[in-house]
Amino acid sequence: MIHLRASDDLVEQLAERLSVCEGVRVERLSDKADYPVLMPRDDWKPIDQETLGKFIRGGARRVRGNCIGLMSIPEYAHAPILSFLEWYFEGGPKDVEQCSREEHRLDVLRQIYDAPECPRTSTRPIFFGVARNTPDASCATIDREIDSLVGLHIDNFDNLPSSQRMRGRNRISANVGTESRYFIFMPHEAAEMASLILASSGQEDAERLEWDQRELVWRFFELFPRTPIYRVEVRPGEAYMAPTENIMHEGSTLGTTADDWSIVWFGEFDWDRLRFRQEPDDGDASLRLRRQA
Ligand SMILES: [Fe+2]
Repeated sequence: MIHLRASDDLVEQLAERLSVCEGVRVERLSDKADYPVLMPRDDWKPIDQETLGKFIRGGARRVRGNCIGLMSIPEYAHAPILSFLEWYFEGGPKDVEQCSREEHRLDVLRQIYDAPECPRTSTRPIFFGVARNTPDASCATIDREIDSLVGLHIDNFDNLPSSQRMRGRNRISANVGTESRYFIFMPHEAAEMASLILASSGQEDAERLEWDQRELVWRFFELFPRTPIYRVEVRPGEAYMAPTENIMHEGSTLGTTADDWSIVWFGEFDWDRLRFRQEPDDGDASLRLRRQA
């Protein structure tokens, strides 16, 4: 079960930022895809206080692998982010290595997160890139190889078995666009999803569910299609942290009109090492992407 965190200025807003919908719908969008695409039903409603309380209290363990957090990007990080975006939109397209070098040069992540590497494993955070998504999309991620929507999914960069996914890396994603975006999630961790499937359908698929996260997602919703799906609104100038290797999730731009822009890092981020130090408001509190491509 995930637990929710928020920077101090956003704790009181969590109730209005969260909404719930009643499970998934299935679409087959591409013949090249191995699995049909799972989309949220998008009948979004406000979350009730009892559920919010459960998310805030969380399960027994409060670790990186089950923490979803919403934070305001500190004021002093706005200038380097805007410098980076100005560089990004100047001239021609840039590849991820060029972007990574510039991001390092401007030391953007360090303004948000104070640990250059994970103390225990010495793993350095990876700059994942600048993501652009189309407006008003129920699910934002595109599988470029087959040019089709990915739908609700579990990431697999660390290639861990379901029982170990809580140890996978997590991400920080900063909304640098001009409108709200949404992080959609299902609150059961991968290991819980596997247990629920096996308890309902017998143990013979245990090995496959341990190693194939696409099968895990698909089987889960075949059995429990009305499991509530949640989303958290991330406004411009805010970021979320989430264990995307361990929970089913997706980005959404539903209801927006402008292109969606975010900057993403991947690493072993610890909520308690985020920087929240607030400096005097210079009158332009929300980060805006000044130049849209
Ligand atoms: Fe993902």
